[in-house]
Formats: sequence, structure tokens, C-alpha cells
Amino acid sequence: MNLHDLTQLYDFTGKTVVITGGAGVLGGEMACALVGCNANVAILDRDPKLAERFIHRIPTSVGRASVIYTDVLNIDTLKQTADTVLNEFGKVDCLINAAGGNKPQATTSNENSFFDLPKDALQFVFDLNIVGTILPSQVFGKLMAQQKEGVILNISSMNSFRPLTRIPAYSAAKAGVSNFTQWLAVHMAQEYSPRIRVNAIAPGFFLTDQNRFLLTQTESGELTERGKSIIAHTPMARFGTPEDLLGAVLWLLSPASAFVSGVVVPIDGGFSAYSGV
Ligand SMILES: NC(=O)c1ccc[n+]([C@@H]2O[C@H](COP(=O)([O-])OP(=O)(O)OC[C@H]3O[C@@H](n4cnc5c(N)ncnc54)[C@H](OP(=O)(O)O)[C@@H]3O)[C@@H](O)[C@H]2O)c1
Repeated sequence: MNLHDLTQLYDFTGKTVVITGGAGVLGGEMACALVGCNANVAILDRDPKLAERFIHRIPTSVGRASVIYTDVLNIDTLKQTADTVLNEFGKVDCLINAAGGNKPQATTSNENSFFDLPKDALQFVFDLNIVGTILPSQVFGKLMAQQKEGVILNISSMNSFRPLTRIPAYSAAKAGVSNFTQWLAVHMAQEYSPRIRVNAIAPGFFLTDQNRFLLTQTESGELTERGKSIIAHTPMARFGTPEDLLGAVLWLLSPASAFVSGVVVPIDGGFSAYSGV
């Protein structure tokens, strides 16, 4: 294989990639990169206006981006969205399940003990991360089963390997996302086609709206004790940036990873490898 053949693997011309939570910080970065690699990208989010913060960065190239309202917890909306994507782009080659997150009410603190975490907050986090990954995989995975080809990429987390303190529902839900990734990889290959692959990435710590309240002081912006501890346990000694995810995302979506399925790739600056000693 020469450099030309190798780079061709990352040419997504004619491919359609659907990204749930695609207007978010990490999903939006992936959308920009994929259009840059000539993909057609359907950006699905419950607040399509969020896409305004990065849509101007989407390169003018062969690929196109389309922003579509979707609620990943509503199967009827997802089916309507799938029809819209098919009308616009003709097929779906890849799905990235990037909608997910935690919420403060499901996080323990001095004011909010584990024993008092409200059921609706716990349920919200489980539903968003687990059910919100499974339902889009049903709707878009069915299209892949019909065409006997496709790639699904889930977004797990560091806390799927070992739980992090304070966020019990999010940790358990992301462990579920990693488990579901393996389950679906086997199921799709055995029941529908060995050319359908399912993988996940497990990002380390990226400073975004959903975790800013845990990692930095609201007033000063300085690191919290938790933020400092994370940096101390990250051999690369920094938080990740959304761009840090792109190499693994493009690899897992492309034919460069044609024999890779059912894996969860940590992208964490070495956090998961470090014992702390
Ligand atoms: N940031 C990190 O350090 C980190 C680390 C590991 C894993 N992750 C995971 O990476 C993924 C992306 O995270 P992010 O940091 O990019 O978060 P983000 O900026 O909050 O992006 C998530 C997007 O999903 C949308 N969303 C929420 N509920 C939805 C629903 N029911 N239907 C459709 N869209 C919905 C959100 O919209 P709203 O803003 O309206 O809620 C948001 O635009 C998540 O699964 C997260 O758990 C993040």
C-alpha cells in the first residue's frame, strides 16, 4: 500500500454519516472533519440552532451538511428523520451516536447525597446515554442491515472502564454503552452482515458544558480539586481538545479499520493506563 492508497481510505466521497447530538461540542467537531473528508453529514440534534456555533467552519467541498431536528429518545421522530436523511442523501453509511451527557442533579455533592439523588435525574441520564444510543442504532442499523453494510460508532467514556466518583448514573450508563457496543457488533455481523461494524471511542476529559461545573470554579474558572486530580492522573497533563478525537473517529468509520469491530478505544492522554503511582 502506498501513500495514495492509504489516504484514499479516508476519502468519504459519496458516503453519508448521521451524527446524533451532532450540534454538540464533540459531535460538531466530527461533523466539520467529516465534511472536510467529503462526506455528506446529517447533523441530528434536539436543538438544531446549536449548530450555528460551528456551521460556518464546515468547509465548502464535495460533501454537504444538513441539520435536522431529532430527539434520540423518540422512535417516531427518529424514523421521520431517517426518511428525511434518505430523501436528501439516498442512503446511510455510518452512524455516530454522540448524543449523551450527565446532569448536576444526578451528581453527588455535599448538598446532594447519593441517598437523595432524585429518580427523575437518574432516569434522565440512563435514558439519554443508553436508550438514546440503542434507539438510533435500531432505526439506522436497520437500513445498514438492508444494505448489508455500515458502521456504527458509539461514544462511551473513561468511566465505563472504572467508575469515576460522584456520577453513578453516568458511569453505569456509559459502562452500558461499551457493553452494548460489543453486543451489537456481534449481533449485526452474525445476523445481518460481517460488513457491518460497531465500535466505540472512550474520550477522556474534554472541558465542555456538561462537565465544566465539575472541573472548573464557576466564578474564577480555576480548576476544582477534581479538575486538578484529573490533570495529575493524565500522563499528558492536559484536558483533551475535540480535535484529539478525530484521528480515531475517521479510522473507525473508514475501511482502514475494516477488520475492527466491538472495540472501545480510549482517547485519554494515557489516563486509563496510569495507576497513579
Ligand atoms: N465532554 C467530555 O469530556 C466527554 C467525555 C467522555 C464522553 N463524552 C460523551 O461524548 C458525547 C458528546 O458530548 P459533548 O461533550 O459533545 O456534549 P454536548 O456538547 O452536550 O453534546 C451533546 C449534544 O446532544 C444533544 N442532545 C441531548 N439530548 C438529546 C436528545 N434527546 N436528542 C437529540 N440530541 C440530544 C445536546 O443538546 P442539548 O445541548 O440541547 O442538551 C447536545 O447538542 C456524549 O455522549 C458525552 O457523554 C464527553
